Amino acid sequence: MSDSIQQEIRRLLDARNAILLAHNYMRDEVQEIADITGDSLALSQEAARTSKDVIIFCGVHFMAESAAILAPEKTVILPRLDAGCPMADMITADELVRFRSEKPGMPVVTYVNSSAEVKAVSDICCTSANAIKVVNSLPDSEVIFTPDRNLGQYVSRFSNKKFHFWDGYCPTHERLKPDVVTSLKSCNPDALFICHPECNPAVVALADHVCSTSGMYDYCKKSGVKRFIIGTEAGILYRLQKESPDKEFILASPALICPNMKLTSLEDVLSALETMSPVVTVSDRIRIPAKRALDRMIAVPRD
Ligand code: 13P
Ligand code: SF4
Repeated sequence: MSDSIQQEIRRLLDARNAILLAHNYMRDEVQEIADITGDSLALSQEAARTSKDVIIFCGVHFMAESAAILAPEKTVILPRLDAGCPMADMITADELVRFRSEKPGMPVVTYVNSSAEVKAVSDICCTSANAIKVVNSLPDSEVIFTPDRNLGQYVSRFSNKKFHFWDGYCPTHERLKPDVVTSLKSCNPDALFICHPECNPAVVALADHVCSTSGMYDYCKKSGVKRFIIGTEAGILYRLQKESPDKEFILASPALICPNMKLTSLEDVLSALETMSPVVTVSDRIRIPAKRALDRMIAVPRD
């Protein structure tokens, strides 16, 4: 990366009173220049808490939307408006309204990987970092879980509730197959296999530890083990290696690349700061009920 782009981005961030947030799957050079890198939960909370006027959100569309929902007084910019999430597109608000009308009275728990419209017709949101606590905070004996059937299956192992799953999934994580993991584990018997709960249940069943993206940094740093097989998107390796330089991380499959998370380049970040666009906004009609579902999630005690 050229130093001049990096310097110009930093100069404009100051001039615009802006903060640069980057998801853990972003390209290395974007993570390198970010003020904060994190998982979906940490980035939404940072968006709500920052005193800056402008949020440059390097991630995918639903993440910038969550920031716009939580911090309506701030300008939220997603440098690549075409960076979407195929899982979030697997359910619409109309489909969810129909699904929940077939199960009257049951609360809807919606993974943040969803549109603002879908959040607006949900009772509570969750992320991969808090999904078990969120589900178990509800008094009901049955829940609707949407859109990720894999995360839902994983959470259901830690709950006595009956789950009704929407059939959504992450195409990137779904590409990791259990036979690939089994053979990697047998070639690397000293390594632990860590995966994201968006992986298929057959893959999750092989894991030594299952957690959110940020959970992986903490777990690998604290572990006495030196080698890890990683079952999540490739962008995670940048910070894993940086924070634990004495450890070895093996990506479980070269197919673990989310094309949407790879769209944003430094040139896109620079252009976003120069033009102050594209701005992500959510109308109050959607924002207010969507914020209720996000606020309810944030209010669930962490421990
Ligand atoms: P995290 O919330 O764990 O960062 O996951 C977000 C995501 O999109 C995973 O595919
Ligand atoms: Fe969506 Fe999967 Fe990409 Fe995450 S990795 S943004 S869930 S497609």
